[in-house]
Amino acid sequence: MCGIVACVGEKTVMPAILDSLKKLEYRGYDSSGVACFCGKEIVVKKTKGTIDLLEEKIDKNMFYSNVAMGHTRWATHGKADETNAHPHLSYNKKVCVVHNGIIENYQVIKNNLPKVTYVSETDTEVFANLLSSKLSKACGEQEVLDCLEKATKEVKGSFAFAIMIDGISDKIFFAKQKSPLILGFGENFSMLCSDECAMSPDTHFVAYLSDGDYGYIEKFSYKVFNKQKEVKRKKEPFCLHQNSLSKGRFDYFMEKEIEEGNFAVLNTMLHLMNSNTKKLENLIKSSNKIFVVGCGTALHAGEIFKFILEKECGVLVSLDFASEFRYKKPNLDKNSLCIFISQSGETADTLACASLAKQKGAKRIAITNVSTSRITKLCNVTIKTYAGVEVSVASTKAYLAQLSALYFLLTLFSKVYDKKLSFSTSNILNIKKFMDVTEKIKKLAKQIKDEKSLFFIGRGIDYFLAKEGALKLKEISYIHCEAFAGGELKHGSLSLLDESSFVICVLTQKSLIDKMMSNIIEMQSRGAKVILFSPFCELLEKVFYFVPIKKEKDDLMPFVATKPLQ
Ligand code: M6R
Repeated sequence: MCGIVACVGEKTVMPAILDSLKKLEYRGYDSSGVACFCGKEIVVKKTKGTIDLLEEKIDKNMFYSNVAMGHTRWATHGKADETNAHPHLSYNKKVCVVHNGIIENYQVIKNNLPKVTYVSETDTEVFANLLSSKLSKACGEQEVLDCLEKATKEVKGSFAFAIMIDGISDKIFFAKQKSPLILGFGENFSMLCSDECAMSPDTHFVAYLSDGDYGYIEKFSYKVFNKQKEVKRKKEPFCLHQNSLSKGRFDYFMEKEIEEGNFAVLNTMLHLMNSNTKKLENLIKSSNKIFVVGCGTALHAGEIFKFILEKECGVLVSLDFASEFRYKKPNLDKNSLCIFISQSGETADTLACASLAKQKGAKRIAITNVSTSRITKLCNVTIKTYAGVEVSVASTKAYLAQLSALYFLLTLFSKVYDKKLSFSTSNILNIKKFMDVTEKIKKLAKQIKDEKSLFFIGRGIDYFLAKEGALKLKEISYIHCEAFAGGELKHGSLSLLDESSFVICVLTQKSLIDKMMSNIIEMQSRGAKVILFSPFCELLEKVFYFVPIKKEKDDLMPFVATKPLQ
């Protein structure tokens, strides 16, 4: 996962590049770098760590540049260090590249360029050399375009490249295949971004590039080509909710976005309740096999959907990680309905599954927060979630918005299957303010922050909440966290627990109190300290630490338990 940005302007562009990189940090923050033309020379600065560290390293003269590009990285090829950070130069310093995506055949390309000496372990450096191997020393714009087209044809995988060429100091070249890349235009600049959230606030128009597009930007103009022909990409007025891009009164985007969870639920629900559902109902009616596919948090939302749909409507739902589904020859046909959940709508594995489902003639619903994302183009119907821009890497409000969309879908299933659910959409709209447990959680965090390993357990719907809690905690604290289904503990995992262990239990369902309490007693007899997230305050005395959750109808508990867990 990476973010890229490039800008050619009439005035200095480095402040805009750094500002965009900060907005792109949610795509990865283990290393970053910039390149710019200082006069005729390409200058590169990189660092391990965040954009703030990069900013400290940038020389004054780089701030005067009006042609620059930047990258923020989440390591995939090679470890997270300065050498592997982008931009990457070709060995002869002719070509400088930032890249978002993965070049699957980079080893083959590398073997075909035996004379090159590489400094990094990245696939991107290989591409820089591939392109440079095709260019003559004094190449002009047309030669670069021709060679770029040829070089990208040799690449298998996904890419959004921004490229600087030594000797052409008024342009930044680009190419795109399967990774998002957007052009942006202001009064006196043109820019390229991998995500519209990182466009300069002064951008007036944007144009979405298509796969196979390549070209260049200059300060007042740009050109796009596809298969050697010049093409036009529609310019659309650009309007971004700046509020989403600032932390406001919070120290962290994650904190702010957790807080915005209630709005995400309300916005999504209200939009859906006012939408025409005929198409969705027809898709449900004409299907006899249901598949749910996604990754990480998105799939955790799907697990709750599957649980309730199977329980309430008696429909069997098959659920898979996108990264597994795409390789296991799923039994898809025209009677299958696939539901793809993806906040960004750009997750490669989920996109591959949607393409596969399309090929097999299956019906496809996308649940996504980004209506211009590629998943929407691969599906018959898109259910848009209204979480607003999610900047934090850790998905929080988007998860609640996904749950809202999925619960709405449950109401449509129940209508088509003529079954009665325990809740209605207005029950969800009327969920009262979440309980504020911030101080309690802060106290708890101090106690567990130095742990090496933490366990989460839950049963039924609470097991899926426990899994999501564990994912969130490991993602942001780097503590190993693992979630177990309560009943599974005795089948081996219990042996991991002793007096040094902390176990976070989620118990939101009245019918599970006895079963869960017997798990808790088992764990405590081994000395483990149990932290209980629950609306059943009578259990407060029975555990090491208690975090109260508001009580709602059983099936709606994910909406109130999520925020305290986040
Ligand atoms: O954009 P997507 O919903 O497709 O992303 C899927 C996962 O990468 C994502 O949910 C990830 O697990 C979260 N960042 C976890 O907080």
